[in-house]
Amino acid sequence: MPESFFVLSKDYLELATDEIIALAKMYDRFSKIKIISNLVIVQSKTNWNEISKRATFVKISGQILRKMSGLFLDEENLGVLKNAKTFMCRVINLSSNQFNTPELENSMGDMISKFSHAKVNLENPDITVYLIFTNNENFFGFSKKMNETIRSNKIKRFPHELDWKLTRVMINLIGLKKGETVCDPFCGTGTTLLEAESMGIHGIGLDFDEKMCEIAKANIKVNKYKSQIIKSEFQGLSKISDKFDGIVTDLPYGIASKTSEKPQEILKKFFVSIPKRKRVAIMYKKEMDFNSKLSGLKKYHIYRHKSLTRTILIK
Ligand SMILES: C[S@@+](CC[C@H](N)C(=O)[O-])C[C@H]1O[C@@H](n2cnc3c(N)ncnc32)[C@H](O)[C@@H]1O
Repeated sequence: MPESFFVLSKDYLELATDEIIALAKMYDRFSKIKIISNLVIVQSKTNWNEISKRATFVKISGQILRKMSGLFLDEENLGVLKNAKTFMCRVINLSSNQFNTPELENSMGDMISKFSHAKVNLENPDITVYLIFTNNENFFGFSKKMNETIRSNKIKRFPHELDWKLTRVMINLIGLKKGETVCDPFCGTGTTLLEAESMGIHGIGLDFDEKMCEIAKANIKVNKYKSQIIKSEFQGLSKISDKFDGIVTDLPYGIASKTSEKPQEILKKFFVSIPKRKRVAIMYKKEMDFNSKLSGLKKYHIYRHKSLTRTILIK
């Protein structure tokens, strides 16, 4: 079974790791996962590229060719360079040993040049060859040139909007697949719907504020997306629960956006109104937390500044 590697940004490491696990399991529920600090190794029938395209916090990714006991490459390992015109070498040192990385990359490049006709290109190579060092194991892998992911365009903004990365990670944590539908019952400017559609997931957004509905519609239209926007209180969810597979939302904080009542009251009522058997990712201000009767929850805390820590809750 092919193995892939993902080197994650350390900014939100727990979220980032769980996102890779959720995506790997979404594509192939028999995936096996190994975590070595900010390196995640996935054994799965899914190509690394598929997971990487959706993931939010991946810095470097590729396919593992083999584990290495030492720095030793031969012709067989370099078969991957057969049709490549250009390559570059990168050393990723996640071990506690010190290496002279540029020197190692140069000598690896020299070694590869002896076996292959490919030329070194440090700007935009067809293939990047990786040597990954950790304290216990070393890996030899590669990645191919990947098309840049196209980001959705947002023409209308509002101060309360959520950043796209946290929105995307929430969608991925509940494992929504291409072709499924997400509902955001507090959709605001439509960030959830834009992220979802950029991954081939359909969207339905509710917001009780007419002005926010207009903003969300404009953002959807400019991208030629098809998400439906409904002007409604969040309780409208119950009437359309057969039309979506999961909920991803960011509840009102009572600061920049209009609210129908106190944010904590909204949170409590919202919990009660979540349709059964739906996957849910919600974000709210940590201070609003309370003991709900929902089971099987996982929570993450995201520190923004001294008066705002957010909770992401996954069901
Ligand atoms: C924090 S904002 C959501 C921001 C959104 N994630 C974005 O990126 O633009 C919360 C939204 O909830 C809406 N809202 C407040 N009370 C509501 C209610 N009772 N039912 C539905 N929407 C409500 C507000 O109009 C606001 O747009």
